[in-house]
Amino acid sequence: MPVRIEFVAADGSRRAVEAAEGKSVMRAAVDHGVEGIVADCGGTMTCATCHVIVPPEWAARLPPPGADEEAMLEMTAAPREAGSRLSCQLVVTPQLHGLTLRLPSTQY
Ligand code: FES
Repeated sequence: MPVRIEFVAADGSRRAVEAAEGKSVMRAAVDHGVEGIVADCGGTMTCATCHVIVPPEWAARLPPPGADEEAMLEMTAAPREAGSRLSCQLVVTPQLHGLTLRLPSTQY
């Protein structure tokens, strides 16, 4: 079943996509041409250009970042926030249906 995930750009514009289960949130964004997710490294966690900000009500429902993601979150172009994550590390599951993610003002 497709999982609906919405991206809110820094200018407030919104874009919802149907994300494929088992793939990353980054992949769902890139495959649907969501502007603001660059994902230069293709998901190998070496670019930090797939930065998203998870709202507080959703943060606890996601597995916490691993050590490598934690390290890369220090490299984001826009300042890291409490809900900052790398979308290539978020795996789409049915539980994420309705997730809304904020995009940072820049990925570079
Ligand atoms: Fe490069 Fe996520 S796509 S770190």
